[in-house]
Amino acid sequence: MTATEIRVATVERVVQRRGGRRDALVQILREVQEHTGWLPRDVLAQVAAGVGLTPAVVEGVASFYRFFHLREVGRHHLLFSDNVTDRMAGSRHLARTLCRRLGIAPGQRTADGLASVDFTSCIGLGDQGPAVLVNQQRALTRLDEPRVVQLADLLRSGAPMHDWPAEWFAIDDQIRRADVLLSAPPMSGEALHATLARGADATLDEIAGSKLRGRGGAGFATGQKWRLARAAPVPEGGTRVVVCNADEGEPGTFKDRVLLTRHAEAVFEGMTVAARVLGARQGFVYLRGEYRYLLDGLREVLARRRAAGLLGHGIAGVEGFDFDIDIHLGAGAYVCGEESSLIESLEGKRGTPRIRPPFPVERGYLGQPTVVNNVETFAAAAHIAARGGTWWAGIGTALSTGTKLHSISGDCARPGVYEYPFGVTVEEILHDCGAGSAGRPVQAVQVGGPSGVCLAAHEMGRRIGFEDVPTAGALMVFDSSRDMFEVARCFAHFFAHESCGFCTPCRVGTELVRRRMDKLAEGHGSMFDAATLEGLESLLHGTTHCGLGASATNVLRDTLVRFRPAYERRLLAADFQPGFDLDAELEAARRVTGRDDPGAHLERHG
Ligand SMILES: Cc1cc2nc3c(=O)[nH]c(=O)nc-3n(C[C@H](O)[C@H](O)[C@H](O)COP(=O)(O)O)c2cc1C
Ligand code: SF4
Repeated sequence: MTATEIRVATVERVVQRRGGRRDALVQILREVQEHTGWLPRDVLAQVAAGVGLTPAVVEGVASFYRFFHLREVGRHHLLFSDNVTDRMAGSRHLARTLCRRLGIAPGQRTADGLASVDFTSCIGLGDQGPAVLVNQQRALTRLDEPRVVQLADLLRSGAPMHDWPAEWFAIDDQIRRADVLLSAPPMSGEALHATLARGADATLDEIAGSKLRGRGGAGFATGQKWRLARAAPVPEGGTRVVVCNADEGEPGTFKDRVLLTRHAEAVFEGMTVAARVLGARQGFVYLRGEYRYLLDGLREVLARRRAAGLLGHGIAGVEGFDFDIDIHLGAGAYVCGEESSLIESLEGKRGTPRIRPPFPVERGYLGQPTVVNNVETFAAAAHIAARGGTWWAGIGTALSTGTKLHSISGDCARPGVYEYPFGVTVEEILHDCGAGSAGRPVQAVQVGGPSGVCLAAHEMGRRIGFEDVPTAGALMVFDSSRDMFEVARCFAHFFAHESCGFCTPCRVGTELVRRRMDKLAEGHGSMFDAATLEGLESLLHGTTHCGLGASATNVLRDTLVRFRPAYERRLLAADFQPGFDLDAELEAARRVTGRDDPGAHLERHG
């Protein structure tokens, strides 16, 4: 068989295995690319024919996701995680070293096609960076100069990944502080049996009584969400749907990675409890593509649960209690963590956030009532189902019950995952993780990732919780050596890159912010630019279609207020300064007209 024939047969097999379903398009493209390395036009056309869509639609979907390659990449495609904490750990320098040794620039492929190198947003390994994703399959952690030198040699020699040193791929859980969720033994049916004994209504009352609020960022009451979905009518022949949001794309967040590694049983059990309460038959885990290396382990846990009668038909021997979970891999789009984009992606489309109402609890996956909850929310729900809502409500504070997991990274001696009851002060967390131990005091803490809040040193007494400092679970520490303008600029790049482009204020606004910040960094800043940034900040807050745009300038807002000198240092002129040398740009016109008199020069003329 020729290479082309093998490729055609592979695509056919993948499409057939997925039943030629349009809603499986993202998964089909992922699986095809795992075989073909990239997605050339003829492959997209074959997929399109297989699922009954036009090639233009399929290409439109493929081009939405950063992990789909529409141009050929190297046999080993390396993506450097590019969060600010990775940069602080030296990732940019290491990427340059690797590229130099391979004789390419970032974004390029070696002439022999053996390797290509690029950057991507945070890959969820901020506690053990600098980290690199290889072929979207495995991750290299704790990269340093000697490893990069050796890596370049291995890449040039064409050595397959399984011949690389095994310790390079070590991913540690780094659980530094465990409370009720992280210290619990593996769950194997306790929550489910308690739910069945208590009944669906009473279990929902326990969840509501626990006052559990979603851990994905918005903090919506979980009991209320489940109640709404339960009350929503199901279309003929359909079901309610339970979705676990494991997209974990917020830079600096990695606690869901650890929960899925260590406590997947509890997460799946929480989903099954939700299924019982809602009467749902179908469940999904939307796992970020960056966590592809967790997939096999998670499938094994699912298989074990099926074998133990905790998933599938007649769960726990109860006739009619049918529920199963499928894992759907994302493909490198931060916006797909937003629940309606996630559902679009589950349906095989571009991850564009939906117009709401209707909300997912009314009409979500394929028009069916759908509950989307964060990984940690489901783990908490399982423990609440097992131990009761009063137990959970007794932990934390009045409005923020229970515990919260934090992914801690940046300038601290002990990065990793920490579980605290809500109400803990930022100061206590900083003490435990060894912040400032290098002799440099803490200057700032970014809580909740780039879309969260930036606190200055005098605010460390503030408390984590919905009453004061809410968080989805990232906490990045910056000591006095860091330039907070550069931190904000890095996040501005992130949002401009991740904007899905659907609505103008976000598509244009995030790009304008990025360009202004770059202009300041390049030494062309003026008071005019500072005023423009402030204007953009308030514009984005009120006008965007989804939460990405609405929170894209939070860090700008916070740093402009708290770290004003970092900006003022860069405002070199009172009046507007162009971001480029205007007089030099006129050179071509001078040459053409043969003029070089003072009138043909901008500054001399003025
Ligand atoms: C841009 C954007 C990205 C998001 N990413 C995530 C994510 O990675 N994980 C998550 O659980 N929620 C994320 N959310 C929040 C979800 O939309 C949703 O509120 C959440 O999954 C609901 O679960 P919860 O109620 O358990 O928090 C994101 C929201 C936005 C606007
Ligand atoms: S706010 Fe940004 S990410 Fe959200 S829909 Fe608009 S363009 Fe897309």
